[in-house]
Amino acid sequence: MRILVVGGAGYVGSHCLQKLLATHHDAWAYDNLSQGHREAVPEGRLIIGDLLDTDLLIKTMKTHGIDVVLHFAAKALVGESVVRPDMYYKTNVTGTLSLLDAMVAADVKKIVFSSTCAVFGSVPPPITENLPKNPINPYGFTKLVIERALADYAAAFELEAAALRYFNACGASADGSIGEDHDPESHLIPIVLQVALGQRPHVQIFGTDYPTPDGTCIRDYVHVEDLADAHLRVINHLKAGQLVDYNLGTGVGVSVREVIETARRVTGKPIAVVESPRRSGDPAVLMGDASKALRELGWSAKFKAIELVIESAWAWHQANPSGFRK
Ligand SMILES: NC(=O)c1ccc[n+]([C@@H]2O[C@H](COP(=O)([O-])OP(=O)(O)OC[C@H]3O[C@@H](n4cnc5c(N)ncnc54)[C@H](O)[C@@H]3O)[C@@H](O)[C@H]2O)c1
Repeated sequence: MRILVVGGAGYVGSHCLQKLLATHHDAWAYDNLSQGHREAVPEGRLIIGDLLDTDLLIKTMKTHGIDVVLHFAAKALVGESVVRPDMYYKTNVTGTLSLLDAMVAADVKKIVFSSTCAVFGSVPPPITENLPKNPINPYGFTKLVIERALADYAAAFELEAAALRYFNACGASADGSIGEDHDPESHLIPIVLQVALGQRPHVQIFGTDYPTPDGTCIRDYVHVEDLADAHLRVINHLKAGQLVDYNLGTGVGVSVREVIETARRVTGKPIAVVESPRRSGDPAVLMGDASKALRELGWSAKFKAIELVIESAWAWHQANPSGFRK
């Protein structure tokens, strides 16, 4: 298949692009490089462009005879979305509508959208697809708006759409060629590993009085290679005129303290912590129930043990202490 990976120079998108090329699909990244890295995309596979440039999207889809769009491009920092909702509505909502309009104009029918567990807000775990969706920040709300738009566009224009709701993406490619490099970094595992590398003095734990066994927040860490695998599978399970949705998690909850303790063992470094008050809007526990993905796609996470995830991330961070900046 001929696949356009929108946001394919970013963290999850570049791992998916790598897997598509390894499995003999013809795939290109389309990315404005606002967050992504040119070095994360193989030579000759990057088209530099913005989601808002509908004409360039149409031209790109027609030139490359695109069959499927995988849509990763977004602004994705919860805190930033609260203070700059304008940027989130513009990129995530207006940008995605531009992409959908381009697909309709170029007669591309299939789309897989990177959604998030943030569409649910605070619901008790484990989180299944049919739970109520009440996002508690603009980031989650923009993703929910697009899920709704996908269902409406699918019905009206015979699109075949999927929303994959990730929990916390983590890890790096098995061959060590690409990994996680966000600027600013807001994800726990890379931050902990930057402390191990001596690039930060400590990791901050936000909240030690949650109703969890060790008082810190519990999250579900799903490996990028497992996410890439789910994207490949869902392409073959799309349905004309419909939006299908899957929650992608491991079903295993890991606390902040457990991540830090595991990283100490994996890296052999002490990793200093500073305990701070809770951040507003952080639910105590987020854990996915991926039984629908298992039933319908035959998908389940291979990386279930947090040790394996952290080993994979550590291998990349050690080999690339400055990320993609050489
Ligand atoms: N990383 C996670 O833990 C996580 C969890 C849940 C959902 N998601 C979703 O998965 C997707 C990928 O996340 P990520 O961590 O890889 O993010 P990322 O920031 O690494 O990748 C996003 C890519 O999109 C590009 N982009 C942004 N705005 C663009 C625009 N206007 N036009 C063209 N390209 C643009 C960026 O340059 C970047 O390369 C996002 O949609 C995010 O909301 C991520």
